[in-house]
Amino acid sequence: MDTALLVNLAYIASSILFIVGLKMLGSPDTARRGNFLSSSGMLLAVLITLLDQNIIDYKYIAGALVAGSVVGYFAATKVKMTSMPEMVAIFNGFGGIASLLVGSAEYVSGTLNNPAFLGAIFLTVLIGGVTFTGSIIAYGKLSEVISGKPYLYKGQQFVNSLLLIAILIVGVNMLFYQGLITSEQTLILLIGLAFVLGILFVIPIGGADMPVVIALLNSFSGLAACAAGFVILNNVLIVAGALVGASGLILTNIMCKAMNRSLANVLFSGFGAAPDSSNESSQEQGEVKPISAEDAYLILEAASSVLIVPGYGMAVAQAQHAVRELGELLEENGAEVKYAIHPVAGRMPGHMNVLLAEANVSYDVLVEPEDVNPIMETVDVCMVIGANDVVNPDAKENEGSPIYGMPIIEVDNSKTVFVLKRSMASGFAGIQNPLFFKSNTRMLFGDAKETVSTLVSEFKG
Ligand code: TAP
Repeated sequence: MDTALLVNLAYIASSILFIVGLKMLGSPDTARRGNFLSSSGMLLAVLITLLDQNIIDYKYIAGALVAGSVVGYFAATKVKMTSMPEMVAIFNGFGGIASLLVGSAEYVSGTLNNPAFLGAIFLTVLIGGVTFTGSIIAYGKLSEVISGKPYLYKGQQFVNSLLLIAILIVGVNMLFYQGLITSEQTLILLIGLAFVLGILFVIPIGGADMPVVIALLNSFSGLAACAAGFVILNNVLIVAGALVGASGLILTNIMCKAMNRSLANVLFSGFGAAPDSSNESSQEQGEVKPISAEDAYLILEAASSVLIVPGYGMAVAQAQHAVRELGELLEENGAEVKYAIHPVAGRMPGHMNVLLAEANVSYDVLVEPEDVNPIMETVDVCMVIGANDVVNPDAKENEGSPIYGMPIIEVDNSKTVFVLKRSMASGFAGIQNPLFFKSNTRMLFGDAKETVSTLVSEFKG
């Protein structure tokens, strides 16, 4: 069998591993194995490419492998679950710059001069550059190195249009003329414009929308890799890039749907730019009714159905283990306990599922909003643990609300609602929540982990 055939067979095997692995990521039961299969596919692809191409001295490859593994190991073990979106942002950025470098190297080598290849180089450098700086800004916003507020300025559309025209001119020069400016100048100009576009693309987007942008940038990093695959004619890179590109887009779409917003609205509306008016509205909406953990225990003890609704605050408090323990005690006490998971609760897709899985909460007791909303009237107690926007009734009642139309978990329809949070502060959308003022709501103020632990102690007597 000749080498080319062997290499392609290995690439097909890698691609199958990617696809099967990706499919298995769709279910929590198979996700770990899916992740392992996909990364094995990537290892196979990398090894085959290295053996086949003999690109550079193995000393450099071994050095880079060790350095990358050490950095990856520490990053993965040290990063907090709540900081995962930042880490994904950085990974996307690295993916983008890697594709940009591949495209640039091929362009500078000057061996490819037919318009199809040059077009692939143009796309690789452009998308790679946008992904790189866009991801750095997204990282900065999420980690609060820079302000998470959307940055809007006068003439924004005009500046963006000029930028796109400039990119188009550089692209045409790259593909067809090749004489207007030197190829090095063309490349530097394209990289510079792509970097600026990446920054201008992300700065007008608010921190709350960043996870959606990160999913989109993830898709871009896949598209850049796919284009790089065409540049260097590497089939497995084309397949892997296309898979990342498509899955990133699907995820972006799922998140937009869960917030009932279009992608255009997420990207261009400057959501969250308005000042937070939570304090004024809290005075307008009336009195809140606080309750102590001891009194809440008495109500929980008598409840025969309890719905736990976790949100970002549960992640911040790291309350998931205490929550699982409370759930078990409630069940022992005869209550039916379920966990309602909103698709955008927390700060990343599947955030609540990951935390609850870590605490060994069975997947059988997790329910989706559409399953539980129709029977909400029958629920004795809803425990809202660090959630806010995803239970905000304004989303269905107040047409003027920025989150109007977003599907929510309708806890306000249950018999009693306990809201566990530290203060009256707003959630990520920066808006006040009328749920806190409803007659059937009791506020359990304090850190979620401490409050749940107190309830656990009460149950244990
Ligand atoms: P949020 O609306 O962000 O509210 C979280 C609440 O947790 C805050 O109001 C905060 O109130 C409370 N909290 C923080 N630390 C706490 C602690 N230690 N103990 C107790 N409570 C604590 O959360 P959510 O309901 O999960 O909604 C998620 C938001 O993120 C939505 O707006 C969603 O659209 C947005 N978003 C999410 C995603 C994904 S993929 N998940 C993507 C894009 C956007 P206190 O400060 O008073 O304690």
